[in-house]
Amino acid sequence: MFEASVYKNRRKELKERVWEGLILLPGNGDASSNYPANAYRFRQDSSFLYFFGLNMPGFAGVLDVDSGKEYLFGNDVDIDDIIWMGPQPKVKELGARVGITHTRPFAKLTELLKEAIAAGRKIHFLPPYRYRNMQLLEDLLGIHHAVLKQYASLELVQAVVSLRSVKEACEIEEITRACNIGYEMHTAAMKNCRPGVKEQYVAGLIEGIANSYGSMVSFPVILSQNGETLHNHDHSQILQKGRLMLTDAGAEAVSVYCSDFTRTVPVGGKFSTRQKDIYNIVLRCNNRALEVARPGVTYLSVHLEVCKVLAQGLKELGLMKGDTDAAISAGAHALFLPHGLGHMMGLDVHDMEDLGQIHVGYDEEIRPVPQFGTASLRMGRRLAPGFVVTDEPGCYFIPALIDQWRQQGLHKEFLNYDKIETFKDFGGIRLEDDVLITEDGCRLLGDKRVPITVKEVEDFMG
Ligand code: GLY
Repeated sequence: MFEASVYKNRRKELKERVWEGLILLPGNGDASSNYPANAYRFRQDSSFLYFFGLNMPGFAGVLDVDSGKEYLFGNDVDIDDIIWMGPQPKVKELGARVGITHTRPFAKLTELLKEAIAAGRKIHFLPPYRYRNMQLLEDLLGIHHAVLKQYASLELVQAVVSLRSVKEACEIEEITRACNIGYEMHTAAMKNCRPGVKEQYVAGLIEGIANSYGSMVSFPVILSQNGETLHNHDHSQILQKGRLMLTDAGAEAVSVYCSDFTRTVPVGGKFSTRQKDIYNIVLRCNNRALEVARPGVTYLSVHLEVCKVLAQGLKELGLMKGDTDAAISAGAHALFLPHGLGHMMGLDVHDMEDLGQIHVGYDEEIRPVPQFGTASLRMGRRLAPGFVVTDEPGCYFIPALIDQWRQQGLHKEFLNYDKIETFKDFGGIRLEDDVLITEDGCRLLGDKRVPITVKEVEDFMG
């Protein structure tokens, strides 16, 4: 938890960005796994956490924009809870820790909102994503859960996005902490990437590293020899010499700020020439993004610049052909890179994605591009100092996609299908770093960069 002044400032800024009415920010509750008392590990709602700082279930916050009053709703624990959970701070004390003086039992939330609704006041809320909170909002506001999203406040979404997009120094410290855990996870994966080891062993090991810091992973570990499957959560294979292992994983610090890295390494520690050729193209892509990302530049243009480096490299290897710019305009490169360069990162690994990607990664000036590949770019808008984005180019050989495009004769003026055919057993490579946009450029986050050049990886694994 940060100092109370951090949360007070954020709430003040939020109230200034919303015209009138009440802002309702429910926190998350516990979610049951297989019976009511067996809950998944608790994860707080990131916007509630951002403005109210309390990382525990059972709270809601309300900001009255017109009177300026700030409320925290939650229940003090009773003796039964104390028997099972130990002594817990009173809600009043928790409120004081984050600068709130008006604390109330949770049931009083209904009263406050009923009065506001009766007075015809606007209630702003964010699009809910958990059924418990949908049910709560339906009960409080009388809006059927199926249509709640339509009634979410765009004004509030835009205000929250404008604040959470620009990370404060204390947030960068926390993201750095998460990156340092990510460093340990990825170097442990490299050390254990040996022929005969099961993928699941490595995946479990690195998840345990996150957990050993009191944290959890920022999303389920992606780890596979079949790196061409972009989000591969199947860890059932035994690692085989000569193949590549792609690991896409990150940690949440105790504060739940995230990291997200991807490395692709050779099982057994040595890249083949063919692997090195593709790997170095992807590395050039990653480094190119670092050269061009700076305030004022759109991340869409950084993505397209990276696609150019990829297409140029593949042309040199004989996998692509024709004019590079024309190939990019046509979208031919997306056979190899069917996803975007990156996304915002912060309290969520895909920061604020619950608020709607269109509001987080795009704006009135920069609109999403519908073309296959670029359509998957989560972050396209102009960069500004304090933004944290991922830089995650890749190159994949997806047999089903190659077959489909070939059958359709798609982009055959730019794609050398006979040569591509010989790469169907290659898998995929992705190299991902976390990047802070600074006043005049950008910098990598984390105290040390996870080994990334061919030499660094081979030396480290050796
Ligand atoms: N690193 C996983 C993702 O960005 O979806």
